[in-house]
Amino acid sequence: MVQDAKEQGFYPYFRPIDRSWGTEVEVSGRRLIMIGSNDYLGFTHDPRVIEATGKAARRWGSGPGGSRFLCGNLTLHETLEDRLAAFVGKKKAVVHATGFTTNLGAIACMLTPQDIIVCDRENHASIFEGCQASRARLIPFGHNDAAAAARKLAAARQKNSNGCLFLVTEGVFSMSGDLAPLDELVALKRSHPDLLVYLDDAHGLGVMGRGGRGTADHFGLTPEVDFIMGTFSKALASIGGFIAADDEAVLEYIRHHSKPLIFSAALPASNTATVLACLDILDEDPDRVTRLWDITRRVHAGYREIGLITKNSKSPIIPIYIGGEEKAALFARDLFEHGVFALPAIYPAVPRGQAVIRTAYMSTHQDKQIKFVLEVLEKLAKKHRIRACDFTQPDSFLEESGFTTTYTGVNGTATSMLGD
Ligand SMILES: Cc1ncc(COP(=O)(O)O)c(C=O)c1O
Repeated sequence: MVQDAKEQGFYPYFRPIDRSWGTEVEVSGRRLIMIGSNDYLGFTHDPRVIEATGKAARRWGSGPGGSRFLCGNLTLHETLEDRLAAFVGKKKAVVHATGFTTNLGAIACMLTPQDIIVCDRENHASIFEGCQASRARLIPFGHNDAAAAARKLAAARQKNSNGCLFLVTEGVFSMSGDLAPLDELVALKRSHPDLLVYLDDAHGLGVMGRGGRGTADHFGLTPEVDFIMGTFSKALASIGGFIAADDEAVLEYIRHHSKPLIFSAALPASNTATVLACLDILDEDPDRVTRLWDITRRVHAGYREIGLITKNSKSPIIPIYIGGEEKAALFARDLFEHGVFALPAIYPAVPRGQAVIRTAYMSTHQDKQIKFVLEVLEKLAKKHRIRACDFTQPDSFLEESGFTTTYTGVNGTATSMLGD
């Protein structure tokens, strides 16, 4: 299939980027507007961030020289752990070299085959890898369906009265841009006081909550969420990941038992300093997050006007529903021809036959770039017949598929940052 797509000229992935300006990139000599990046706050090109990155490399060298357990642990890592814990409102944090290995290492070592994990079906692959490696009983529940999670928890507890109960969700889902119903999930603790809630906030950090403090902060539920995991590879302009909690003993256990932390190299000083610089800027200039939401609201409205079908996105990640995988690849190629860089998300990242173009916006996008992108999308949406009015299936088809052209607002007490 990959070979066929390559031969027919519509293979969209692994496109080599020659140069980047953040909101624009150069590919094969062409300059394109980037609407697929996770660099939500545009920090990757902030001169203060780049300066901090270079300065740390000059002081500590370009590579870590070992795992944190042995020779690669830097004062900078520990400073960052303190800053992250304070930023998300937890007592302590442990930094890993990637977000993927944070989920893999932390979940795998915390749980045992006697334990029970209930896990949103659309959680990231790294969460499922961690769950599988733990050999705990893994019970997926329907995406964002807290009632289903409640039923699965009750049934599992009836069969196993001793094991630890662990619930894992993302804050902002990476493909759909949906917000987890964190209030409803945390409320499950009322029936199961021993339930531990693990939040992967890879896409919520820097985006949701006060000054980008994340999804738990957005819901006002930071104390009730037991573990907050985040990555540096999205809004924090680097690579790396962390897990934060109030239970310092568990974090100390993770520090000594997370296999990727012990057996794989540490985050280089340059990447670590990058994150610290981003946190400094966020402290000084929380308007960066406000600007991201202004752009997000504008784009949501623009998509609605065009008639694009978006998933139930509540964030700067806004998928455009296409349907067939091949059609999505052709749409992405046409976008590229018109000067816009965005990629299709296909099975298994989304259900089969429900491909989307995953678009994501940055606080540094300029108004004229947004206008240009919306004009291109309008033209191509008509050409490829992907507007809501182009679909002949009854409305219920789209609704049952989880797609909607209207925004239902966030359930419960939290308010949608989109203001609708
Ligand atoms: C929800 C989620 N968790 C974890 C990860 C892994 O993070 P990283 O890319 O920093 O390894 C990702 C990255 O795509 C993600 O989207």
